[in-house]
Amino acid sequence: MAYDLAIVLPTYNESGNVAPMVERLENTLANALPGIRYEVLFVDDDSPDGTAEVVRRLARGRDNLRVLHRIGRRGLASACIEGILAASAPFVAVMDADLQHDENILPEMLRRMREENLDLVVGSRNLAGGSMGEFSRWRVKLSQLGRRLSLMGAAHELSDPMSGFFMVRVAAFERYAHRLSGIGFKILLDIVLSAGPGLRIGEVPYRFRLREHGESKLDILVGLEYFELLVDKHLGSLVNVRFVLFAMVGALGVGVHLLILNALLRVAGIGFAKGQAAATLMVMILNFVLNNSVTYRDRRLRGWKFLSGLVTFCLACSLGVIANVSIANEVFHHGVPWWLAALTGLLFSAVWNFGVTSMTTWRQERRTSEQRARRRIEAAEQAGPGGNGNAPAKTA
Ligand code: GDD
Ligand code: MN
Repeated sequence: MAYDLAIVLPTYNESGNVAPMVERLENTLANALPGIRYEVLFVDDDSPDGTAEVVRRLARGRDNLRVLHRIGRRGLASACIEGILAASAPFVAVMDADLQHDENILPEMLRRMREENLDLVVGSRNLAGGSMGEFSRWRVKLSQLGRRLSLMGAAHELSDPMSGFFMVRVAAFERYAHRLSGIGFKILLDIVLSAGPGLRIGEVPYRFRLREHGESKLDILVGLEYFELLVDKHLGSLVNVRFVLFAMVGALGVGVHLLILNALLRVAGIGFAKGQAAATLMVMILNFVLNNSVTYRDRRLRGWKFLSGLVTFCLACSLGVIANVSIANEVFHHGVPWWLAALTGLLFSAVWNFGVTSMTTWRQERRTSEQRARRRIEAAEQAGPGGNGNAPAKTA
């Protein structure tokens, strides 16, 4: 079957939205574009609620439905990219799977794409006829701030660069796909910043709906990912973004260290060596906690793993300190000013700590997701073969 259009739906814990979503797409497309050949492709990041299994079961009765089930990965933007590249249709629409995006504008998006020979058509909430819907005030403000930041350095005017609802021409997408960062939530912005000035863009208004089932994954960390995307787009050819975060946590640690040491020396009256040791230990713990919840939030360690992670982190950093001091000392005795020698030592230990902890403390773990999946499969088996495709497998 050669498809005219593919619809890519990234999902994370959307099991209750899968069946209604597919049904709405079927109704809209069959009514507005009779005879159109389309496929629906979910990209699921091993959702704990078993979204992927729900799609797989539903797909048994249809040949234009499938799921790309990614294990050990997280991320809306990268899910969209892989979904687009896995489709064979010349045009691919990307939309949220939570029924918030209005599928009724898909035919209009496709029409404009073809008739105006566009490369990208964006569903916009900020054009006449579109709306943010019942978005809370702070979400509207946040969205506006993000919009102002985002268009720095972009070659295009867009009324809604934060939209996650758009359609691409795959032939054009293939040309800029390798330049995409794939970080965080803002795939459209990533596309516009990566594609350069030649991209032909159109916009179609729509009204953002309220979410009915499940919950939004947007939180403070998504805001952080947005910052990461911008860093990557502007500095990505020079440095690794995770390293930037790790180094920022380290720099914060240096500041906190001085504050703690100052308090211990002056207020508590503790001797220098003891104070320095205590401050070092406290800052190592602080940096571990920050890196664990921010830099490596996608591999966050909990429970016992948190403790063993803390130990490997402290060991790695202790070696880093030794190397730092010896290198700084060496450089200093070659006539380099003290502050430059100190910075050289610090930079070296940052690189060392980052490299070593990425291979030890926060190395990729497979076991947790496997245990979760096994529990899901067993629960489904217990429910028996009669279990229908719509009921999400319940897991912790
Ligand atoms: N595969 C995958 N991996 N999908 C994800 C992930 C992930 O890590 N995180 C979220 N999703 C899916 C959700 O399941 C949903 O289908 C869609 O991406 C959007 O996520 P929501 O959590 O519903 O986001 P939102 O409603 O707060 O954000 C919407 O508005 C933004 C504009 O302000 C989305 O449309 C965004 O794309 C949009 O940028
Ligand atoms: Mn949503």
